[in-house]
Amino acid sequence: MKNLLTLAFVLALAPALCLAGPPAPKQSGIEAKDYKWNAQEGEKIEALKLKGIAKAGKEGYEVCGACHLPNGAGRPDGTFPQLAGQHSTVLIKQMADIRAGLRDNPTMYPFAKELTDAQELANVSAYIESLCIPVVHGMYEGPDAAAQIADGKAMYEKECVECHLKNGEGVKDKFYPVLAGQHYKYLLRQMTEIRDGKRRNANPDMVTIIKKYNDKQLVSISAYQASLSMPGSMCKAGKPAAKKKG
Ligand code: HEC
Ligand code: HEC
Repeated sequence: MKNLLTLAFVLALAPALCLAGPPAPKQSGIEAKDYKWNAQEGEKIEALKLKGIAKAGKEGYEVCGACHLPNGAGRPDGTFPQLAGQHSTVLIKQMADIRAGLRDNPTMYPFAKELTDAQELANVSAYIESLCIPVVHGMYEGPDAAAQIADGKAMYEKECVECHLKNGEGVKDKFYPVLAGQHYKYLLRQMTEIRDGKRRNANPDMVTIIKKYNDKQLVSISAYQASLSMPGSMCKAGKPAAKKKG
């Protein structure tokens, strides 16, 4: 009997040991110690020090393209974010955070887990950064879109512009992400998760600000962000996969 129990135990445990699956998502019981915004450590700091070679990262990006699409556009329904043109610093940080279990992403975890080489991580990030931002993407769709966007603009310019800038450019060396060209539904999901304390790698100053927004306000502000466009970084009409430089 005891042996049978041991056997059952080993069998139950074996797959977990072999596969070392994603860190379990933490949806409740999250404490202050579970948050970590941007500690400079591990492969993140290593990859940030290296010069990423965009050309060399193209091949490594192929596997990512299965979900994020070959041109980095993601999906308009927001399931997969648009990545093209994102700052390499932000990309490196997000990948490292997903691997470290600070940002729950069980879908992508098996792929993020493979990208352990700091130079490869820097290359793939440089490649994604070099892609132009697709103009056509998921927007707020409703008869009241104009009013929602106007409400969102007023809020954005009051409290968000300081970090994410006027056209959603973000700030590369401060890890503030590009928001222009991002899908409406993805933006809404991220902001809801950041507000509700589910994204533990969020910037603490932003968390303080976003805490007071209700669901309706998050809808308007997401509608506005999705309407932003960054001059010089957007794809030219008819050339969705063109590089923005080089
Ligand atoms: C199986 C599908 C899948 C694959 C393959 C995948 N991802 Fe993702 N990725 C996702 C999903 C889903 C999210 C958004 C999760 C969420 O809502 O938080 C995401 C989010 C991200 C983010 C965060 C974006 C942001 O704006 O913060 C980055 C960066 C990213 N992926 C990069 C990559 C890279 C690089 C690869 C290839 C090594 C890759 N992904 C492969 C599904 C995938
Ligand atoms: C103090 C600077 C700061 C302010 C102010 C700020 N943010 Fe952010 N925001 C950040 C940083 C940094 C991140 C990335 C967090 C991370 O590393 O995971 C972020 C992430 C986001 C994301 C997720 C992007 C993605 O690709 O996943 C959205 C959406 C966003 N911010 C919207 C807003 C809005 C709307 C406001 C105003 C209500 C705002 N932010 C105010 C710094 C800021």
